[in-house]
Amino acid sequence: MNVNQLSKRLQTVADYLPEGAHFADIGSDHAYLPCYVCMKDPDAKAVAGEVNQGPLSSAEREVASHGLQDRIDTRLGNGLDVVKQGEVSQVTIAGMGGPLIRDILDQGKEKLSTVDRLIVQPNIDARALRRWFLDHGYELVAEEIIEEKGHIYEVLVADKGDSLKPYTKDKREQELWFGPFLMKNKGDVFQAKWKEELEKKQYVLAQMKKAQSVDEDKMEQLNKEIDWLEEVLAE
Ligand SMILES: C[S@@+](CC[C@H](N)C(=O)[O-])C[C@H]1O[C@@H](n2cnc3c(N)ncnc32)[C@H](O)[C@@H]1O
Repeated sequence: MNVNQLSKRLQTVADYLPEGAHFADIGSDHAYLPCYVCMKDPDAKAVAGEVNQGPLSSAEREVASHGLQDRIDTRLGNGLDVVKQGEVSQVTIAGMGGPLIRDILDQGKEKLSTVDRLIVQPNIDARALRRWFLDHGYELVAEEIIEEKGHIYEVLVADKGDSLKPYTKDKREQELWFGPFLMKNKGDVFQAKWKEELEKKQYVLAQMKKAQSVDEDKMEQLNKEIDWLEEVLAE
């Protein structure tokens, strides 16, 4: 993968940035995403943040190879520490686990006062991010689920707004898990992801039933999740 042939995963993230974006890409690694966006849009500007020197060096090389040093600032630091107050209007964080992305947002929340859009691509546990958006005044406005090279990825887009809006009162827990928009569309990739999850949970339940001592709470939780999965796949 390179900047001229961005992965479908990063392309999906890039598609949700507005024209003239001024954004921070946290955990940017090779900085393919900011380079791609800035090459396409002459008004875009970015901060590429990295906590590790190795990836930061590849980001520096990539940025320099496109002569984009005046529009992409590569910075070493943890999470949103690399961003100055009021400096950016969008933040992208891709290719990490949901809980890590959530912690980066949470630890840097004072830097988000001028950030009106967050675009995240968690590798696992998107629910952790939906919950964080809900609790911090970010309204989920779009979700994508894509498959690339045998992996399934979710991309979530949240704007400052009414964080309760995408959710219904009775089904909020399920919507936080499956995604309120994704569970309305239920495309093939969605079906594949949750069918696999259902099979895993059914296997765990069968093993649990064979065990000599049973954790009733765990069993109850598992049964509830299996019901939700069967429901969402059947509807
Ligand atoms: C798997 S790579 C993803 C790179 C790129 N965002 C992508 O999606 O292709 C994750 C990157 O995040 C960086 N990273 C992990 N934790 C971080 C943190 N707290 N702050 C900044 N960067 C972090 C790692 O050094 C690594 O380069």
